[in-house]
Amino acid sequence: MSHQTHQTQQRALRARAEIDLSALRANVRALRAHAPGSALMAVVKADAYGHGVLPCARAALQGGATWLGAALPEEALALREAGITAPLLCWLWTPGGPWREAVEAGIDVSVSGLWALDEAAAAARAAGRTARVQLKADSGLGRNGASPADWPELVAAARAAEAEGAVKVTGLWSHFACADEPGHPSIAAQLDSFRDLVAYGEKEGLDPEVRHIANSPATLTLPESHFDLVRTGIAVYGVSPSPEIGTPADFGLRPVMTLSASVALVKQVPGGHGVSYGHHYVTDGDTALGLVPLGYADGIPRHASGRGPVLVGGKRLRVAGRIAMDQFVVDLGPGEPGGRLLGEGAEAVLFGPGDRGEPTAEDWAEAAGTIGYEIVTRIGKRVPRVYLHEKHEKHEKHEKHDKHEKHDKHDKHEKHDKHDKHEKHDKHDKHGEREE
Ligand SMILES: Cc1ncc(COP(=O)(O)O)c(C=O)c1O
Repeated sequence: MSHQTHQTQQRALRARAEIDLSALRANVRALRAHAPGSALMAVVKADAYGHGVLPCARAALQGGATWLGAALPEEALALREAGITAPLLCWLWTPGGPWREAVEAGIDVSVSGLWALDEAAAAARAAGRTARVQLKADSGLGRNGASPADWPELVAAARAAEAEGAVKVTGLWSHFACADEPGHPSIAAQLDSFRDLVAYGEKEGLDPEVRHIANSPATLTLPESHFDLVRTGIAVYGVSPSPEIGTPADFGLRPVMTLSASVALVKQVPGGHGVSYGHHYVTDGDTALGLVPLGYADGIPRHASGRGPVLVGGKRLRVAGRIAMDQFVVDLGPGEPGGRLLGEGAEAVLFGPGDRGEPTAEDWAEAAGTIGYEIVTRIGKRVPRVYLHEKHEKHEKHEKHDKHEKHDKHDKHEKHDKHDKHEKHDKHDKHGEREE
């Protein structure tokens, strides 16, 4: 498909979330360089933080991730059903969950209490298999994980189940509460607690393949937390864990998702015209309003009404008035005649890497009083994902995919790679991406 056809098809969509898999692969490589002594688990729960799980999981593995992480058993099972065989940890279980299916699919199941260990072991016995089990400790997060007080009992039960052959403890792990606030006293306290809990388990005879606690912020800022494996989610998608830590570019990361829509209507209105529900925005004078066909049903936060930034026709604007279920309005300004350049079909970019002056997911997070994680993860199913730079494995060669075309991001990738201080390899593919 020609570059022009690709562009035309894109424009024909009401809205689209472009997912730059070349950036995702480069992010994984950059993260591995931040934690050179550890393996990397790409966390692909919640449909890969809204980016689309299968293409992102495959791209993460291509970029050098050797583990995948999911929250829900159904997320993990879907990866196996799609033929992904990489080591895979799944951590959010409830009684009666699909333990047997997970054991049979070779998924590492996380247990935080005796009830879960019992269910995993029973499933293994029924399947005639050994369950791969990771014991999760609450080293201070105060959420999932066994409390230090309950740890000896859990370790003893796991040892007994190992002796019977029902389970193999493959991992000891935990999760941080405040890794996105460098210097927070809970970080050192959690590290101490985790080391003690791991040492106890090993003293009692456990011999795990992996010990892990680092999420994205810890991977980026806390080398002593890296242990055998880092468990990165948001950074894989090129979004900063928090403004306090820095921008994605500070860490050699590039945002993967660009969310844009086609302006659905441009119309002239006089001054004093109320805009959208509640008339919280009123035009100053004669102006042109542009209708952007995205709303809170698409995951655009209503809390960003009156504030969310948008790039339209090279101009940085803000949402005028309330964000509705399916649409919002921008004030294009008095000089805008509604000609083709900024007429219907013009591109409105809500967020992306920022190269074209477009806002970022972090800008929307600030406008909505939330975090970048929520902005990308909540982009809804109504918004088609358009995958760029997808690389297919050899056996997939004959599938019909036409998004491999060279396109206008080519130059940007080259620019990105130059800035990628952690990249050691020089070979460029046709997209200007350096590949290992
Ligand atoms: C248990 C666990 N580990 C790792 C992650 C990845 O965290 P991040 O996206 O900050 O890298 C998450 C995400 O919330 C998580 O719940």
